[in-house]
Amino acid sequence: MRDQAERLRALVADAGTDGRRRESTNKTRVISITSGKGGVGKTTLAVNLALAAQQAGVATVLFDADLGLANLDIVLGVFPRYNLLHVLRGEKTIDEIICAGPGGLRLVAGGSGLAELANLNKQQLGRFIAGLAELDNSSDLILIDTGAGLADSVLSFLYASQEIIVVTTPEPTAITDAYAVIKLVSQHESKPIHVVVNRAHNEQEARAVFTKMAATATRFLDININFAGWIPEDSLVTRAIISQQPILLGHPSSRVAIAVHQLQAALFSGLQAEALPTETGLQAFFSRLTRFLGG
Ligand SMILES: Nc1ncnc2c1ncn2[C@@H]1O[C@H](COP(=O)(O)OP(=O)(O)O)[C@@H](O)[C@H]1O
Ligand SMILES: [Mg+2]
Repeated sequence: MRDQAERLRALVADAGTDGRRRESTNKTRVISITSGKGGVGKTTLAVNLALAAQQAGVATVLFDADLGLANLDIVLGVFPRYNLLHVLRGEKTIDEIICAGPGGLRLVAGGSGLAELANLNKQQLGRFIAGLAELDNSSDLILIDTGAGLADSVLSFLYASQEIIVVTTPEPTAITDAYAVIKLVSQHESKPIHVVVNRAHNEQEARAVFTKMAATATRFLDININFAGWIPEDSLVTRAIISQQPILLGHPSSRVAIAVHQLQAALFSGLQAEALPTETGLQAFFSRLTRFLGG
């Protein structure tokens, strides 16, 4: 798969010389949301965090990359007809597969297209990467809802992302599995790792969970991880899923909604912009992703 990586580099370089890609003006942050254990609240967080960012004036695209349980549509009550596969087959452009979510939020469904990325020929790949320029130019933030665990497909997303958000609950198995993800990612490449403790009963509990993880990460991995914040346990979350209305919209003054706004401010208020690598944006992300998927 090495020649594919070389082709990609050449393609990206080409895109830089024909003027379609505006160099260095591109500040799109690409952040994957992941967890070790499944069912800890990734999708709920992804949807509500994206809505909060959009409300705060950050042009946001929510990307559904959970191959197993693609479910942004279920949580949002929006059902995309087309996904990445249609773009890769040349049947649709990226623009045409974008779904309008609430409040101007844009959604992209990866669907089975993600599995196809590694098998693209040069022409398909070129078309795809070029097609991403528009999204890069029109967005400040791409949030990716990934699957859980250590599958290669998930890890490739984490490796290709500039930053990752790891979600855990206070449950010991969730913490252990979250740590395993952090370990693998940090051994691959250094990048900002943010931790969100979901379903905590109070701040003290959430901070205790984070402190334990941070101490282990410092001691055994020699890295610092960031406490992004926490979200309380609240039965409104389950009810919001049943009614297909995100809690941020349905219950904007709930404790969960307030916590999500705080997370949004902590993560996206621009404080971390300096820490970003120079290679940003969706085109760079997908070039990297294809490289990792190809092995
Ligand atoms: N803060 C919370 N309080 C109560 N229940 C929650 C909370 N966050 C998530 N849940 C429950 O956990 C379930 C799984 O959440 P989901 O976001 O789909 O997780 P994942 O995407 O990690 O699989 C939801 O259906 C919801 O019932
Ligand atoms: Mg999910």
